[in-house]
Amino acid sequence: MSEKVEIIAIDGPVASGKGSVSSRVAKALGFHVLDSGSLYRLTAYSALKHGADLSDEEAVEKIVLALSPVFESGKIFLDGEDVTEAIREEDVGIAASKVAVHPLVRKALFQVQRSYAKAPGLVADGRDMGSVVFPEATLKIFLTASAEARAKRRYNQLKEKGINSNISDLVKDLRERDERDLKRAVAPLVPATGARILDSSDLTLDETVNQVLEWYNGTKA
Ligand code: CDP
Repeated sequence: MSEKVEIIAIDGPVASGKGSVSSRVAKALGFHVLDSGSLYRLTAYSALKHGADLSDEEAVEKIVLALSPVFESGKIFLDGEDVTEAIREEDVGIAASKVAVHPLVRKALFQVQRSYAKAPGLVADGRDMGSVVFPEATLKIFLTASAEARAKRRYNQLKEKGINSNISDLVKDLRERDERDLKRAVAPLVPATGARILDSSDLTLDETVNQVLEWYNGTKA
């Protein structure tokens, strides 16, 4: 019998802290991590680079089917180019939310995402991990925070990278992206059935990670 793969799905809106929480939870448990947003970002980056029309579903599907990113020692390469930092830019995030509305793009990425499920377990972060990609997850979390708390976090992340930004522009961008994620017809951003809601507006990263671990341990009790 093959070993059971434990899955923790962490979904939530822009800059809710999914990435940091997921990698810390995975480290604590010795699990693998899937940052599904990076796949949408890579698709968007490649589409922008090839001058594709982001609203042209078939053109973007061609891009996603041709994508062969290489993940190596914490870096991501696309056609030999190190795109680790470039795909984190805000304009790529905005473009990612535009390509993510296309059903054919989501379909093409479905199996890619499923292939990350390896023993002993996986922490999958995204928008539809618990609802669509890993409905069998042991634990589903919907991680959220107020728009202001999220904009502040994104501002600090960018500042650490030496990128200047403006909080009110960030609030506006993330509200627009939330809108697009919430309103799309396929896999909209909604808590999966059975998901536990975790509002991290007033929690530190440690407190948030501990809450996820406590819930996970509770599934084993
Ligand atoms: O880090 P941030 O929350 O800004 O975004 P991300 O997780 O890197 O994802 C970038 C974009 O990809 C999101 O705004 C979503 O529109 C889309 N996405 C999605 O549709 N489904 C996923 N499972 C992950 C990301």
